[in-house]
Amino acid sequence: MVIKNLTLTNFRNYALETFTFSEGLNVLTGRNAQGKTNCAEAVFYLCTGASLRIRHDRQLLRRGEDCARIAAEAQTRFGSVALEAAIFENRRELYLNGNRLAKAADFVGNMNSVFFSPGELRLIQDGPDERRRFLNLSISQTSREYCTALARYQRILDQRNNLLKERDTSLILETLPVWDEQLAVYAARIIRHRRRYLKELSPLASEAHAYLTDGVEQLSLGMDGDYPEEEGEIAEKLLAQFSASRERDLRLGFTTVGPHRDDIRIAIDGADARGYCSQGQARTAALSLKVAETEIFRALAGEAPVLILDDVMSELDLPRRKKLLDRVKDIQCILTCTHAERVLYGAECNKIRIREGRIVS
Ligand SMILES: Nc1ncnc2c1ncn2[C@@H]1O[C@H](COP(=O)(O)OP(=O)(O)O)[C@@H](O)[C@H]1O
Ligand SMILES: [Mg+2]
Repeated sequence: MVIKNLTLTNFRNYALETFTFSEGLNVLTGRNAQGKTNCAEAVFYLCTGASLRIRHDRQLLRRGEDCARIAAEAQTRFGSVALEAAIFENRRELYLNGNRLAKAADFVGNMNSVFFSPGELRLIQDGPDERRRFLNLSISQTSREYCTALARYQRILDQRNNLLKERDTSLILETLPVWDEQLAVYAARIIRHRRRYLKELSPLASEAHAYLTDGVEQLSLGMDGDYPEEEGEIAEKLLAQFSASRERDLRLGFTTVGPHRDDIRIAIDGADARGYCSQGQARTAALSLKVAETEIFRALAGEAPVLILDDVMSELDLPRRKKLLDRVKDIQCILTCTHAERVLYGAECNKIRIREGRIVS
């Protein structure tokens, strides 16, 4: 997949600017706070329908404006696609090839990207939230079914959690089984997808990790939680778990079991890496996961995604930088940095210089 161009209108610090990208390496340079990450964020938004850094889309509107637009054209194996998001204070409109879409799930996944920033380098050291986010975002991009199940699960979960905060216990006990029933259906679907995804991701991540560490370390991934094989059986098991934890949920006022609490198991040389391995090891493992994520798109979506490397090069040591660039040299990359010379070593690229939300030629 190749993104050909990107037009930002009243998006963050951009008034109106069009980026033209080339097939291989595209490098956005500029001093701090000029708009490099904002551009990367816009690409990510078109791929996932979600922002990277914020909860409320309205923060994406250029200060003082009431509508931000992100539009891009890409060449995919299905031909060329045009995607556009118009973002308003409290709502948004999503378009595919000029047609307004009713559901966000139809928008997500038309363009695929893997986003990599210093935040992702902490994927191993950080809490399970970040790892779930990683899973949710990358599986959503390749599976509409997952994307839909996740949205429904989240909505029912919110309703269940609200109910748990009610004072009227008899109302709670009467209504809870209804929510549990539905929650279990979507939870089981989420778990089945995650397990399949991790099964495919694990060997790719192991291989990437062996490549990045010259075969010194062995990385393996898995899913926390012991669930049966079949989706119906997973749902049954969850239903039993929901009712077993009902008392605790009532006491705490939120749902304490389910896929919103599960984690990815990550082991380096057989030992749990989460929170225990050295910082250097953790970074390399995170890099391996991300490299594997780019490769899994080839398997699941049938083509490589765009790789967005936001400010990560300066965080990696020289051998890792070189290995990373070498590994991804046949896919489109959008890389941001302050000094291209220090990270690229003369690699051929399309260089775009940004100053105060403008492209300077
Ligand atoms: N909604 C917004 N409206 C106007 N400017 C914004 C908005 N959001 C962020 N900015 C500006 O964008 C700049 C940061 O851009 P960013 O892409 O993160 O920089 P960098 O080039 O360091 O990656 C800051 O100057 C910030 O004030
Ligand atoms: Mg930045």
